Amino acid sequence: MLFLKIGRCEKWPSLSRRGNLTLTAKTYYLHFLAQSLCVRAAMTVDERSFRRTLGCFATGVTVVTTLIPNTTVPLGVTVSSFSSLSLSPPLILFSLGKDLSTIDSYCDFGYFAVNVLAETQRDISIRFSSRVDDRWRGIKYKTWESGVPILDECLANLECRLSAVHDGGDHLIFVGEVVRLRHEEGGAPLIYFRGAYMEYGPPPPVAAG
Ligand SMILES: Cc1cc2nc3c(=O)[nH]c(=O)nc-3n(C[C@H](O)[C@H](O)[C@H](O)COP(=O)(O)O)c2cc1C
Repeated sequence: MLFLKIGRCEKWPSLSRRGNLTLTAKTYYLHFLAQSLCVRAAMTVDERSFRRTLGCFATGVTVVTTLIPNTTVPLGVTVSSFSSLSLSPPLILFSLGKDLSTIDSYCDFGYFAVNVLAETQRDISIRFSSRVDDRWRGIKYKTWESGVPILDECLANLECRLSAVHDGGDHLIFVGEVVRLRHEEGGAPLIYFRGAYMEYGPPPPVAAG
């Protein structure tokens, strides 16, 4: 399908050279219009293959926590879109679907924590990505300066001040400035790959430098 569409596009210049076609401004216009339409059609990405292609990129798994503004009610959501962004200043980012039930609190509270899950915390990842009555039942956490939940037994925790929210299609991109952090020297990460959790194969690496 894709090949045929591209093939048809490439025939346009030879058609115009071959026959008695006069290359007036109008035919040039039609030619470029058709070519741009062909390119657009050829680049259409269907959602299923987009998801499956993105799934080839293995990620770690985090739970991003915050509070409902003006309360101490904790919120948390499983997130694999976490990424480092800048060393100086220390910035990180992640994205959340605009249809997330708690999206307003993530935009409004002003602080959040990224809790990087260990491979032993698969149940926590499942809990914070599912519709359950109480995501927080039995979950152990502490708080630092901002009051957002810092989950126990994670590989790393980063408390962040929300510094920007950008539009990203059907998601919002959250940029945070790290204000406090901690990490384990050992331990293996929880990995998400092709829509499934994976075991980390070799022994955990020793931190370099
Ligand atoms: C491994 C994994 C990673 C996920 N990563 C993200 C993510 O980066 N952004 C996002 O919006 N949802 C992500 N989700 C889906 C959310 O966790 C899920 O939609 C959310 O918990 C639903 O919350 P709600 O019922 O309160 O709307 C991920 C789910 C899983 C299992």
